[in-house]
Amino acid sequence: MVEDSKGLAGVAVADTALCYIDGQAGRLFYRGYDIHPLAKQGSFAESLFLLWYGELPTETELIVFEGLLARERRLPGELLAALRTFGADATPMSVLRTSVSVLDQIDLDAGDNSAEASLRKAGRLVATLPCAVAAWHRLRQGNEPLAPDPNLGLAADFLRMMSGEVVSETAAEALDTSLLLYLEHGFNASTFACRVVASTLADMHAALTAGVAALSGPLHGGANEQAMRMLQEIGTLDRVDEYLDRELAAGKKIMGFGHRVYRTEDPRATHLREMARRLGDASGDSSWYELSRAVEDGMKSRKGLNCNVDFYCATVYRHLGIPLDLFTPLFALGRTGGWAAHVMEQHHDNRLIRPRANYTGDIDRPYVLIERRES
Ligand SMILES: CC(C)(COP(=O)(O)OP(=O)(O)OC[C@H]1O[C@@H](n2cnc3c(N)ncnc32)[C@H](O)[C@@H]1OP(=O)(O)O)[C@@H](O)C(=O)NCCC(=O)NCCS
Repeated sequence: MVEDSKGLAGVAVADTALCYIDGQAGRLFYRGYDIHPLAKQGSFAESLFLLWYGELPTETELIVFEGLLARERRLPGELLAALRTFGADATPMSVLRTSVSVLDQIDLDAGDNSAEASLRKAGRLVATLPCAVAAWHRLRQGNEPLAPDPNLGLAADFLRMMSGEVVSETAAEALDTSLLLYLEHGFNASTFACRVVASTLADMHAALTAGVAALSGPLHGGANEQAMRMLQEIGTLDRVDEYLDRELAAGKKIMGFGHRVYRTEDPRATHLREMARRLGDASGDSSWYELSRAVEDGMKSRKGLNCNVDFYCATVYRHLGIPLDLFTPLFALGRTGGWAAHVMEQHHDNRLIRPRANYTGDIDRPYVLIERRES
């Protein structure tokens, strides 16, 4: 057993200039820029531009970029037709994964790995996939999808297309910031999956289907949804201690806590905690925030573990009226931009990613003819 590197912990498998994480200090940088000012003063589109083009945009560049994303925000007929075929019980992450494949079928740049084509495909995916998730949510409720409104920002328009209502600026900003915080995070499992696929010279859509697939697991993207399910199960402040004691004694993981890289507070959690507090105050119902604080304190004192990006995101999304099973797809919608940046970086300087395994089986076993094998 290769204990030291099990799960590739601590193993650097490629170079990247996209994101740097200092797990000891709890710091996160997108292309060298600290996440805190990006999240406080910037926007999802600004960070997306930064990742894709390497520099922060000027005012004009950002307007042009946002305009481009807004024009690409549409629901192609082929995709809508595919969405209509899914049952209402289809899991949203599989709907999302299949949507990427459908978009691959109709993308004029499919199979073209040039930087220009990859940027065009990335823009279309980031802009179109939110329409797919919102449309499918309406379809499963028996409602017709709503057309995108290019006059709104991506986050505001997603919430409108999903719920049918124009949301407050505070709500749109909260979703936008959460997408920014989910955008990029180094060689996590889904990004690594994208890079492995891209390293075979498969194209953007192929790589991103792998990313969505990897993110669907509860140890990765599924944790924000599971964190809210846990908060719902706990229900009230007086049940927190009993819940944590029971689950931890049974050796269970508490969703939204722990991290492979951070040994201190996940800097993304700092923003989401504050957003959860503000949304609670604004709604006049701080009970989810207070319950979350109690669980956080309980995990600190029992296990010394910090919460990660997914924990307070659960409360934020709850306040935004996002259905539980769309929490992880929203993580994916944010991360799509980061995956795309990694696919482009991999294609730019490619070498097939092909590690080896530590073989633990037998060697040279004698082949026995089938009629002579003992049953
Ligand atoms: C994120 C995660 C997969 C990291 O896993 P990892 O780096 O392999 O860390 P380990 O699972 O080896 O955990 C190290 C120790 O902390 C404990 N631990 C880690 N996360 C824990 C959690 N969420 N709840 C309870 N205990 C936890 C482990 O049981 C282990 O304890 P031990 O040494 O006594 O066996 C893990 O923390 C986890 O499963 N968290 C819950 C899911 C989650 O929130 N995922 C989103 C990540 S952004």
